[in-house]
Amino acid sequence: MRAIYPGSFSPPTLGHLDIIRRAAKLFGEVVVAVLSQSEKRYLFSLEERKDMLRRILIGVPNARVVSDTGLLADVAKREGADVILRGIRDASDLPLEMQMAAANRQIGGVDTVFLVCSPEYSLLSSSIVRDCARHRAPIAGMVPPEIVNDIYAACLRDVGL
Ligand code: PNS
Repeated sequence: MRAIYPGSFSPPTLGHLDIIRRAAKLFGEVVVAVLSQSEKRYLFSLEERKDMLRRILIGVPNARVVSDTGLLADVAKREGADVILRGIRDASDLPLEMQMAAANRQIGGVDTVFLVCSPEYSLLSSSIVRDCARHRAPIAGMVPPEIVNDIYAACLRDVGL
């Protein structure tokens, strides 16, 4: 079975990596899809997010990374995904995730499966990482070491330094 794991990944966190590693043991292939929420401005370009994911997934041979500016349902179809995979941190994630799952099933006829994130990552989010990095706080326990410098550099770039 091939799962597609979509997200903004701005930036990818240890929580995302945990879900991908666990999914790679459950599925024959995991296609990590870097997408965007419409109307949202991102700190990292699509290419930068894809590049960070590629570097942190070197040790996961059955995961590959794609990016797209369009609809997840279309990307899932193009990539031959059997299911969409999303991680759930806590109950507050559910209402939006259920809406997205219903829409993707309606648009693309593809089901969504959920993995509950490991407890150590349940309070972690990309937005918390960005906020800490903007204030030069340590983020080493939040993201893979390979991308720490990319994140600080993007924050400096964002304020025009
Ligand atoms: O990491 P995120 O921000 O929670 O991921 C949300 C994402 C990017 C997966 C979602 O916004 C998405 O699927 N965007 C692509 C456009 C699309 O298909 N929109 C309809 C989703 S129901």
